[in-house]
Amino acid sequence: MAEHHTFTFGTYSCTVVPTTRSGLTAVQAEERFVLADSNTAVYTQDDPGMIIPAGEASKSWDRLRSILDRLLEADVSRTGVLVGVGGGVVTDIASLAASLYMRGIRLVLVPTSLLAMVDAALGGKTGIDLGGYKNLVGTFFPAEEVRICIDVLGTLPEREYRSGLAELLKTGMLGDPVVVEKLEAEPEAIAARDSELLEDLVWRCVMVKGGIVEQDLTESGVRAHLNLGHTFAHALEAIKGLGEWSHGEAVAWGLARATELGERLGITDKAYAERIRALLDRYEYRVERMPEVADRVVDAMRKDKKRRGSQMRFIVQASICDTSIVQVESDLVHAVLVGE
Ligand SMILES: NC(=O)c1ccc[n+]([C@@H]2O[C@H](COP(=O)([O-])OP(=O)(O)OC[C@H]3O[C@@H](n4cnc5c(N)ncnc54)[C@H](O)[C@@H]3O)[C@@H](O)[C@H]2O)c1
Ligand SMILES: [Zn+2]
Repeated sequence: MAEHHTFTFGTYSCTVVPTTRSGLTAVQAEERFVLADSNTAVYTQDDPGMIIPAGEASKSWDRLRSILDRLLEADVSRTGVLVGVGGGVVTDIASLAASLYMRGIRLVLVPTSLLAMVDAALGGKTGIDLGGYKNLVGTFFPAEEVRICIDVLGTLPEREYRSGLAELLKTGMLGDPVVVEKLEAEPEAIAARDSELLEDLVWRCVMVKGGIVEQDLTESGVRAHLNLGHTFAHALEAIKGLGEWSHGEAVAWGLARATELGERLGITDKAYAERIRALLDRYEYRVERMPEVADRVVDAMRKDKKRRGSQMRFIVQASICDTSIVQVESDLVHAVLVGE
């Protein structure tokens, strides 16, 4: 892994630093408040300031409020630092709390899931869920530092690991052909969580995502590319409910659907589409069409709170690293889902 890299996100700067296990939470600050969840508390070395229950349900108003209460009780001042140690749930809510408490205190993130390393911890989006909608409440508040230690992935449950791999593939498709090539060439090493290989892949994804966010922190343009596969994925997650499909599994399914949509629009190169399908197949992601839920998927897309205007927006690719945003009629989306 490279030594470190500093990104400029709007007026913020964020340094991504490879870290050893002993250095995970060793942040220089007079007041340090460490937040973790019940699974990641082991990585806080000393007593964490607060442990929240693991799982998406923790991204709630009540939990946010309790974190803010604890910061106050611990007498954390304007110069204090909040260190979030965990997957995307912890990094999202820690970031939101840090952005609100005293109008913003220092924030260091230690992503411990593959998904948080390649996606959630970098780029300044903070959030909690509201009224059944994911990330409906949030701010833009990049961490000053993101510390990455590949070793911690050793304890990540297999399903979470595979979920992160889908985001890693998505990121490679958007901005680094080598990521896709290594996924194709080294499935055994990836299954074995080979740390050298993962370090390289994670670092590459950090560079891709960081580079995109540098151009567009608040998602008025190119940052939307990071939603490749996600319009489909979010709709599937909305109708299938929690548990049946992990986010990454839904993303893999969404990548297959987005590839097909791109082909039907005459945008996606056929050989590239085959390549992505072969890769999804190789990693045994579920990519089957689900005609029985097509109506509900399209309906869920229509209800997406973050949708702009009446037409549906999708991210498609002509080929690797060649991405665009298209407006699509719902009939075509429906046709892709049923395979007509
Ligand atoms: N802010 C962003 O830009 C952004 C981007 C993508 C996703 N997200 C958010 O991230 C969340 C999903 O993140 P996630 O997949 O990391 O979920 P998560 O934080 O729920 O972590 C998944 C599970 O793995 C456990 N875990 C994490 N690291 C571990 C480790 N090293 N060893 C053992 N267990 C470990 C967690 O406790 C949890 O049970 C969602 O809420 C999503 O909205 C945010
Ligand atoms: Zn995602």
